Amino acid sequence: MAIVRVTRRLHFAAAHRLGRADWDAARNAAVFGQCANPNWHGHNYELDVTVAGPVDPETGFVFDLKRLRELVEAEVIADVDHANLNLDVPWFSGVNPTTENLVVAIWRRIAAVLPAEVQLVRLQLWETPRNYVEYTGDQA
Ligand code: NI
Repeated sequence: MAIVRVTRRLHFAAAHRLGRADWDAARNAAVFGQCANPNWHGHNYELDVTVAGPVDPETGFVFDLKRLRELVEAEVIADVDHANLNLDVPWFSGVNPTTENLVVAIWRRIAAVLPAEVQLVRLQLWETPRNYVEYTGDQA
């Protein structure tokens, strides 16, 4: 049976500030650079969501990408788009909002609602056109 991976790209814009409350401003600036600026800044994020499954012989689809888009929009994009990641997202509160931490939180949101016929296999989260992180689930 052919197992095929399909990917949908979604976009959101969000503000954040990186840092640790238990570090002083100089140490936060040294480690996190401009992402530690006290008055926030924004990124245009791109999220590539990849699911895998067998090709349905009737439709020729692995999964309806419109349905995947709607699911990710409802579970993730609606909460993070034009939001402040430090302040506004209930399922991401109390976390230093690095791209690494965000991709793991997004994975959990999507995996929890994805129908059984497909498997979430990869997320790529782009914070800038040159920086992205990739997550394929926790390794046992
Ligand atoms: Ni930043």
